[in-house]
Amino acid sequence: MLLRADLNVPLEEGRVADDTRIQAALPTLRLLLDRGAEEIAVCSHLGRPEGRDPTFAMAPVERRLRELLPDRRILVLENTRFDEREAKNDPLFAEELADGRDLYVNDAFGSAHRAHASTEAVARVLPAYAGLLLERELEALGKLLGEVERPFVLISGGAKVDDKLGVLENLGGRADEVLIGGKMAEQIRERNPLDFEVVLPRDVVAASAFESGADTRVVPYDELPAGWLGLDIGPQSRKDFGKRIAGAKTVFWNGPMGVFEWPRFAEGTKAVAEAVAAVDGYSVVGGADSARALHEVGLADEVSWVSTGGGASLELLEGKELPGVAAIPSQEVVEC
Ligand code: 3PG
Repeated sequence: MLLRADLNVPLEEGRVADDTRIQAALPTLRLLLDRGAEEIAVCSHLGRPEGRDPTFAMAPVERRLRELLPDRRILVLENTRFDEREAKNDPLFAEELADGRDLYVNDAFGSAHRAHASTEAVARVLPAYAGLLLERELEALGKLLGEVERPFVLISGGAKVDDKLGVLENLGGRADEVLIGGKMAEQIRERNPLDFEVVLPRDVVAASAFESGADTRVVPYDELPAGWLGLDIGPQSRKDFGKRIAGAKTVFWNGPMGVFEWPRFAEGTKAVAEAVAAVDGYSVVGGADSARALHEVGLADEVSWVSTGGGASLELLEGKELPGVAAIPSQEVVEC
């Protein structure tokens, strides 16, 4: 059988730097092995290589997968994007992937928004099923699209408002409060493209330059000195956001509050991570940066769901149909 997983993980010096997505693929692999699969050919993309580029070879991912689940029935195929026909959703490439295999399981939620040969076309060649992760992601994120317990607080951050606009438009109008941090708060302060009110940070950790060691000052947002940059939300905003999040019964958080890779600008994102983890209700976190912040403060187990999808979770919450999901005819979880 052919299993499409999303093993697109960060690498550092030829090793897997964060194996969350590999770990997330294990339940389906174990299920298939327990049910007696003779061979599971696992395929995934890794990065965005232009053709066959050894920097993006699957070897480190395969090594980590074998450490976590040593079973000789697992075969890891080479990066699907080494073949340019992958991104073109080419039916012939899909047939090559399917060749000699009896069924296809798609567990790659993080790639379900891509109509690629290994996520879409192949589902038309082999009998296709959803894996456990795909099913759980759809269920966990899907809850936010239905009736939710209130108050429903939506927290959005990150650099570009355009990336989050679709979700804000689709979910924000239904949320009781929408809290905005990160660089996108500046853009929304200048011109709010949304037709509802949002809560913006009151103060900001300002830096004289975009450098981890730059001079810093905490100032009210509207007193940002000329030429300075807001690189994190300030202490008042942390308190304000924390209080609003604490009262929530449903929360969705996507995107950091500042440049949290630099410890001096990580406090806002950490405060939000802690507040979301403390919510007595249904809490969902999406996007690689927010998930990483949550792991860094050791609270990933305290939220209801941490999505393995970045773009995929956003597109789902925008209300879009995901091609990788739409291609599975039965929408059923795999049975061997
Ligand atoms: C992701 O990391 O969001 C997925 O693996 C999809 O990767 P892509 O944006 O390169 O298609």
